[in-house]
Amino acid sequence: MPVPDATNPDLMEQVVNLCKRRGFVFPSAEIYGGFRSTYDYGPLGVLMLRNVKEAWWRAMVQLRDDVVGLDAAILSSPKIWEASGHLANFTDPLVDCRTCRERFREDQLDDPATCPNCGAKDSFTDARNFNLMFKTYVGPVDEGTNVAYLRPETAQGMFVNFLNVLQTSRKKPPFGIAQMGKSFRNEITPGNFVFRTREFEQMEMEYFVPPDEGQKWFEYWCDERMRWYQDLGMPADQLRLRHHDADELSHYSAGTADVEFMYPWGWGELEGIANRTDFDLTAHGSASGERLEYFDQATGERYVPHVIEPAAGATRTMMAFLLAAYSEDEVEGEKRTVLRLHPRLAPYQVAVLPLSKKDTLTPVAREVLRLLQPHWMAEYDETQSIGRRYRRQDEIGTPYCVTVDFETLEDRAVTIRDRDSLEQVRVPIDSLVDELRARLGF
Ligand code: GAP
Repeated sequence: MPVPDATNPDLMEQVVNLCKRRGFVFPSAEIYGGFRSTYDYGPLGVLMLRNVKEAWWRAMVQLRDDVVGLDAAILSSPKIWEASGHLANFTDPLVDCRTCRERFREDQLDDPATCPNCGAKDSFTDARNFNLMFKTYVGPVDEGTNVAYLRPETAQGMFVNFLNVLQTSRKKPPFGIAQMGKSFRNEITPGNFVFRTREFEQMEMEYFVPPDEGQKWFEYWCDERMRWYQDLGMPADQLRLRHHDADELSHYSAGTADVEFMYPWGWGELEGIANRTDFDLTAHGSASGERLEYFDQATGERYVPHVIEPAAGATRTMMAFLLAAYSEDEVEGEKRTVLRLHPRLAPYQVAVLPLSKKDTLTPVAREVLRLLQPHWMAEYDETQSIGRRYRRQDEIGTPYCVTVDFETLEDRAVTIRDRDSLEQVRVPIDSLVDELRARLGF
């Protein structure tokens, strides 16, 4: 797979435009002038985001026998966030420019003396800690006693359900609980498209291990997670694992490494892998009065497991795959845009294209579509010239097009066209599903 030019200064703009033009991601509330840094996933985006999450679930849950799933509530008790430390510590240092009134995260300013918006010198207020959790009220009266928070991470749902899962799944350490879903953070400086938004999706797994095995499993999950991105076509030279220095570590962490991606603006976080020790289970255990421990009946041993957490962002990961897949080349003297997405991530795996709109071809083309639909997402397109329809599919990353032509009426065969090699092969309709399965790999 060719490496897209990460130094292409227009890459971000090209991907954002493609997302809007082809229905991956729309700015939210656009007809009302938009709603800052909020996005809606369109017909293709919703397919691709599902595929990213499905690929994660497949690797983290389906193909393993030591990880089970969970879908915990988004709206949750303040007691969770008090015990986890989020109420006290989940803050960013906020400064205001007294001249232009813009707000910034102090730790993200290149020059702490100069406002990046208006250029004023020494105009910042003292930094104050700003809690990133969205607060709301449960029930009709806003009293202060019925405060609830939108979860800022999915992780805590796994810790507070540790005993429920342990008892019902009959797993023993090392074992994991995986969850995907929405999280909310009132980010001071959202931006870079869906890289940092206030509403986003996470894919997190908490892996509970015997206390003396933390380091071993931390290293194991760093390797596994790096491999996952590469198995899905992320070029190795656009990925790296960066271990945090001691002064960067979160209050709960005995070791953290970020999977970083080469974004158009430089290396940045894609996923964090942390050795959270027994911090969370101990904190929720003492706050709730429950013993969040594992008791080994065979040895009589009782302990609070340590936790290794690979925490990824689904929406951010989708953006990274789009950036890595975007490329432009030339076919027969014509420029084309291609998303070289892995077949598991592409919104459609196959498109059925009758050569002409003539009624004679429609029944057999529709028959081919119906044959493919139970297996993969298949699109049907009979508008415009065949060349333009190929380009449209290339641009959204469809790995294979199946062309139905007039000969099909005679020989009941169709042409498979490969997005990357442009190779075309003729196959009988009867063996089309097998042929595509062999090429797609699933
Ligand atoms: N439970 C640990 C945790 O939440 P995190 O590093 O804060 O760790 C994990 O978040 C991942 O979630 C990040 O690596 C990123 O991919 C994604 N993420 C975090 N904040 C985000 C935001 N505001 N917008 C989009 N994705 C975000």
